[in-house]
Amino acid sequence: MLMHAFLFLVALSCYIFIKRNRNFTGKLPPGSLGWPYIGETLQLYSQDPNLFFLNKQKRYGEIFKTHILGCPSIMLASPEAARFVLVNQAHLFKPTYPKSKENLIGPLALFFHQGEYHTRLRKLVQGSLSLDNLRRFVPDIEAIAVSALESWAGSHVINTFREMKKLSFEVGILAIFGHLEVNKKEQLKENYSILDKGYNSFPTKLPGTPYKKAFLARKRLQEILKEIISGRKEKRLPEKDLLGCMLNSKDEKGGILSDDQIADNIIGVLFAAQDTTASALTWILKYLHDHPKLLEIVKAEQQVIYELNDKGNSHLTWAQTRNMPVTYKVIMESLRMASIISFTFREAVTDVKYKGYIIPKGWKVMPLFRNIHHNPEFFHNPQQFDPSRFEVAPKPNTFMPFGSGVHACPGNELAKLEMLIMVHHVVTRYRWKVEGSESGIQYGPFPIPIHGLPARFQKQSTQEKRITCGASCYT
Ligand code: HEM
Ligand SMILES: *[C@@H]1O[C@H](CO)[C@@H](O)[C@H](O)[C@H]1NC(C)=O
Ligand SMILES: *[C@@H]1O[C@H](CO)[C@@H](O)[C@H](O)[C@H]1NC(C)=O
Repeated sequence: MLMHAFLFLVALSCYIFIKRNRNFTGKLPPGSLGWPYIGETLQLYSQDPNLFFLNKQKRYGEIFKTHILGCPSIMLASPEAARFVLVNQAHLFKPTYPKSKENLIGPLALFFHQGEYHTRLRKLVQGSLSLDNLRRFVPDIEAIAVSALESWAGSHVINTFREMKKLSFEVGILAIFGHLEVNKKEQLKENYSILDKGYNSFPTKLPGTPYKKAFLARKRLQEILKEIISGRKEKRLPEKDLLGCMLNSKDEKGGILSDDQIADNIIGVLFAAQDTTASALTWILKYLHDHPKLLEIVKAEQQVIYELNDKGNSHLTWAQTRNMPVTYKVIMESLRMASIISFTFREAVTDVKYKGYIIPKGWKVMPLFRNIHHNPEFFHNPQQFDPSRFEVAPKPNTFMPFGSGVHACPGNELAKLEMLIMVHHVVTRYRWKVEGSESGIQYGPFPIPIHGLPARFQKQSTQEKRITCGASCYT
């Protein structure tokens, strides 16, 4: 549902475009544009979006055109085509988001930009999330994971995705601010959640609507962030968290970042970090739950670490998080199966030629990550959850859960660390049972298990017998 709203809004911004950009020479990729304006949107809405893309790919191949609510688009379903757009010729394709969404996040956030400004901010974000910095976060992420799990335990049913969102938000705050005053954190949390609710709603300034509320919350967030920023400026500490990196940044001419630039990028990173990681974590628990033998292997791996750490009485170390091979493969396979970012959007900044076809200026271009991750040519038996496939590295450019090229996810190591730590604690101390037998996918707009995976969590008694099994447990 929300996925649809998402496409709808993207589409609204480009109807005008095509009319002005009719003048190009060359052959368009195969495909059908459907009826003018409505395009193939009705078809897309009436079926699973992934099936829509897959059927097209079967019919037309690696590159095809389509029309989504007035948006003439070229879809790319091969690793080479995705690489062409995201890496090799990235300068010919700019990021494109609906204005209404850009305004809620903040137009100065890095992912809306291309070129010098983007490079500068990207270095700062990447630097603050480098492996050297991340190792310092292990105890704090661990504390966040432990306290989340404690709050879930009991006879009540929790909405796993919603709870995971709280967790990924906390970790986002940690990466951005280090330790933040409780009162400020609460204000950020409350107002951000209003923004989050309005993000996928219809963009109207009518009072009382979710979009308008989100817009007002965004203004309050700007004020809160300005207060935090000025507080930090007074302290003048050379801190290594993202805010510290942004405050200390100077360009060649000695220019510093403005408060608005810093604030928009803070909201941008919180946004990029929250639903993505929460969705991945929810899928991991779903897949482990559905594959009990695999869960036992993961447990066996984590149990060894748990015992070494005096049954969880001493902290997980960075080195331990770097040596969880089975768990790591489960995470990779979950990212492939779920393909949380199913595709992304770019826009051609000029007429671009690709393999004899023309991609006209102003057209949207969509690398279809999910189709590539589910292509049997690259991933044998793609519908099967099989972490052991990652014992061999995937072919180049076939595995892009974090995107690729100049806009690839700078938070990927943090996300993986968070998932490893969470899995360690959940499998060594808890049992969980999914409520209801319904299975299916929901889009919010990222894919999540239906109803956010309602589940009950129970603390394991220490006497509970553990079954260990070897590689034969992979089925
Ligand atoms: C499992 C979790 C995550 C997944 C699957 C994910 C996926 C992605 C993908 C596919 C992109 C590229 C989008 C595009 O090319 O259009 C991206 C960009 C980005 N991600 Fe993530 N992400 C995750 C977690 C995080 C976290 C934890 C952070 C920050 C703490 C983060 C920060 C960002 C930022 C700032 C960008 C924009 C980069 C740029 O435009 O240069 N992400 N992410
Ligand atoms: C289209 O391009 C041709 C040749 O470049 C030019 O003569 C013509 O005026 C253009 N038409 C429009 C509508 O821009
Ligand atoms: C939002 O932020 C303001 C400060 O600007 C704060 O007073 C308020 O309690 C926060 N929460 C909500 C729900 O508005």
